[in-house]
Amino acid sequence: MNTKVEILNQKLREAEVGGGLKRIDSQHQKGKLSARERVELLLDEGTFEEIGALVTHRTKDFDMESQIFYGDGVVTGYGTVNGRLVYVFSQDFTVFGGSLSETHAEKICKIMDMAMKTGAPVIGLNDSGGARIQEGVRSLGGYADIFYRNVRASGVVPQISAIMGPCAGGAVYSPAMTDFVIMVENTSYMFVTGPNVVKTVTNEEVSSEELGGAFTHASKSGVTHLTAGNDYECIQQIRTLLSFMPQNCEEVPVKQDFHLQDEIRPQLETIVPENPNQPYDIREVIAGICDEESFLEVHKDYADNIVVGFARLAGRSVGIVANQPMSLAGVLDIESSKKGARFVRFCDSFNIPLLVLVDVPGFLPGTDQEWKGIITNGAKLLYAFSEASVPRVTVITRKAYGGAYDVMNSKHIGADFNFAWPGAEIAVMGAKGASEIIFKKEITEAEDPAAKLLEKEAEYANLFANPYTAAERGFIDEVIEPKYTRRKLIKAFATLENKVDHRPRKKHGNIPL
Ligand code: HXC
Repeated sequence: MNTKVEILNQKLREAEVGGGLKRIDSQHQKGKLSARERVELLLDEGTFEEIGALVTHRTKDFDMESQIFYGDGVVTGYGTVNGRLVYVFSQDFTVFGGSLSETHAEKICKIMDMAMKTGAPVIGLNDSGGARIQEGVRSLGGYADIFYRNVRASGVVPQISAIMGPCAGGAVYSPAMTDFVIMVENTSYMFVTGPNVVKTVTNEEVSSEELGGAFTHASKSGVTHLTAGNDYECIQQIRTLLSFMPQNCEEVPVKQDFHLQDEIRPQLETIVPENPNQPYDIREVIAGICDEESFLEVHKDYADNIVVGFARLAGRSVGIVANQPMSLAGVLDIESSKKGARFVRFCDSFNIPLLVLVDVPGFLPGTDQEWKGIITNGAKLLYAFSEASVPRVTVITRKAYGGAYDVMNSKHIGADFNFAWPGAEIAVMGAKGASEIIFKKEITEAEDPAAKLLEKEAEYANLFANPYTAAERGFIDEVIEPKYTRRKLIKAFATLENKVDHRPRKKHGNIPL
C-alpha cells in the first residue's frame, strides 16, 4: 500500500467530514447546493470519477501556506449524463469564495483538454468570487488559459455554463464564450464591474440583482439563455439541453425511439387568424408540429419577436427558428437577428437540422434601428443561415415580405425544402405600401383617390399576396395544408439525413460582428 496516498486520502476525508460539512451547511443556508452535490445531481448515479482531488494551491504569500484545502476550490472530473460521457467542473464557494487560483485554473484546463481529446461536452458549474486575490497575475493567467481553451473547444464539443453564485469581473468571459449560459434566480449574478464600481464611475445606484441577476440577463442583455428557479432545476435543464446535442462536431444527435402513425395534426388548420393583421402565438404552431412536449425554448425572454429552441420531430433533434407574430408583429430587428444568428450557428456547428417558421412583415424601420446598426446586425442572421450546411427546411405560415423573405432561410440562400401554407403572402412589401408607390400617379389623378388605392391594393394583393407566384418559380417546393405539415416535415428531414454540403475551402468566414 502506498502510504503517501493513504495519508493524503485520510486528510481528504477529514476535510470533507470536519470543516467540509460545516462549509456545505453555509451553502445550504443560502439556498445553494454544495459543489459536490451539484456534480452528483448532474451525473448519472455513481458515474462520477474525480480528477485532481488532491491538488492544492502553491501560494506562500499572505499566510496562505497555513490554509490548504484539497481540491483548491474546484471539483473536476468526468461521468455520464443519460449514459453519455461529459466532463465537469464545479467551483466550491466555501474555499476562498470559489476564487480561481493558478492550480484551480489548471484543473479546469485539464478536463477541458481531456474533453477535446475524447470528444465530449464540458459542463462548468460556476460559483466564484473571481480571480484569487492573493495570487495576483498568476490567477489572471489562469483565466486566460481557460478563455483560450473555450475558443479552441468552440464548435468542437458543446460547452454549457451554469451560473450558480457570483461570477464577476473578467471571469464572465469564459461562460460568455460557451454555447449556453443558465443562471439560477436570486442566487447568481454576472457583471464585469459590480455595484460599487458602478456607483463610483457613473453615480448610478443599482443592486447586484438588478445589475446582473438572472432576470436582467434573461430579458435585457440576453447573456443568459435559460434561467432556473433553483439549483435542482438548473441541473435538470443542463441534462435536458444535452439530450438534444451530439457529443461533438463529428457526430449527430441521438435519435429517440419513435413509432410513426398518420402524423396529421388538424389543430394546425385554425391557428392563423383570417385577418392578416391579427397576431397569433407561433408556439402553438411549434407545439402542433413537434413531438409532444418536446420543445425547449431558449432565450425565451429576450427578443421575443423571434422564438428559438430545440425540439424533436419523430424522435430526431431539430433546432427551431420562428418569427413570433405576437411580438412586434414578428418583425426582424437588431436583437432578434442576433439571437437567431447565434442559435443557427450553434445548430450548424453540431449537426442539428434547422426548421424555420416564417411569418415576417420585414425589418423594423426607424432611426433607432438604423443608427444602432440594423444593417450589420440583420446581416448576421442572413450570414448564419447562408453558411449553415445542416438540413434546412422552411415553412411560411403567413407573411414573408421584403428582405426578411430572403433572410429567413429562403431557397436562394441554401434551404433544402421550402413549404408554404395556402394563406401565405410572399412579396416585396405589403399591398397598400406597394400600391402607393407604383400606382402613385394613377391614384392621385383619379376622381376618387381612396377608391383607386383600394382597387390597386386588391390588384396587387391578388397577384402577390399568395404563395403561388413563388411556387411557380420553384422558390416554394410545395403549398401544403397546415394539417399535413408535421407529416411533410418528418419525411423531409428523413430524406435529408445523409445530406452532404461541401463549402469552399477557407480558413474561416468573416461574419459581420
Ligand atoms: C480570494 C476570496 C475572493 C477572491 C471571496 N473570497 N472572493 N478570496 N479571492 N476573489 C473569500 C473571502 O475572503 C471569504 O473568505 C470567502 O471567500 C467568502 O467571501 P465573502 O465576502 O464572505 O462572501 P459574500 O459576502 O457572499 O460575498 C461574495 C463576493 C465577495 C461578492 C464574491 O467575496 C467579493 O466581492 N469578492 C471579491 C470579488 C472580486 O473583486 N474578485 C476579483 C474580480 S476581478 P473567508 O476566509 O472570510 O471565509 C477578476 C478578474 C478576472 O476576477 C479577470 C480575468 C480576465
